[in-house]
Amino acid sequence: MISIKNQTELKGMMKAGELAAQALALAGKNAVAGISTWELDRIVNDYIVSHGGHCPCKGYGGFPGHNCFSVNEELIHGIPNKKKILKDGDILSCDIVAELDGFMGDNTKTFAVGEISEEAKRLMKFTEEALYKGIEKAVAGNRIGDISNAIETHVKSGGYAVAEKFIGHGIGREMHEDPEVPNEGKAGHGPRLMPGMTIAIEPMVNSHFREVKILGDKWTVVTTDNSLSCHFEHTVAITGGEPLILTLEHH
Ligand code: MF3
Ligand code: CO
Repeated sequence: MISIKNQTELKGMMKAGELAAQALALAGKNAVAGISTWELDRIVNDYIVSHGGHCPCKGYGGFPGHNCFSVNEELIHGIPNKKKILKDGDILSCDIVAELDGFMGDNTKTFAVGEISEEAKRLMKFTEEALYKGIEKAVAGNRIGDISNAIETHVKSGGYAVAEKFIGHGIGREMHEDPEVPNEGKAGHGPRLMPGMTIAIEPMVNSHFREVKILGDKWTVVTTDNSLSCHFEHTVAITGGEPLILTLEHH
């Protein structure tokens, strides 16, 4: 069932989105050579908790961290680790979810650690652009497939691959609600978008191949050829007009 949020609920979603976005920006500022992903997770959790929220990923399906930090060939679900120290030239995807007063905000950015390769910069550019191509289609009357197709088309135009198996999702009082929001599909297909729907749009992009595998820690999703992967995400509300990005630092 797709939940439709009223104005009061949308305000709550906006507040949660703001907190998630501020925490993500804080992660980005701290993503420098020498810091561990465990320390980043601690900093982000402290920020969210000190602002009255909490991190719903902690314990979700048994996930051990508060949020996900994925480096280079790691696509998603990287577990915070004291031994995982960032170094110059790494790219780091921070996937941050904040719950505030019963509502969820979910957002992701891939950050550069120091000076990164042109190859990494281009992958990041295309993935972020793919997110915004998807958001542009998050308009009442369109269908989920319009978002999916816009993302897929842009990813492929860069010569990249949409990662298999993992998708975006509806979001609200729960982190994962209906509908599914795939990163590939047919325009004009899937559930119709209506004002009051809130969805997390999250292109996950691999350098060469769509295949991924899960590491022995049961969580970390990596490319099968160890090439770079990238992830950007916003929580977005469908309105009567333009799409409303909820995960912004300031509304
Ligand atoms: N933020 C992720 C998402 O977009 C969820 C992380 S998985 C968890 O769905 F186990 F850490 F919660
Ligand atoms: Co998400």
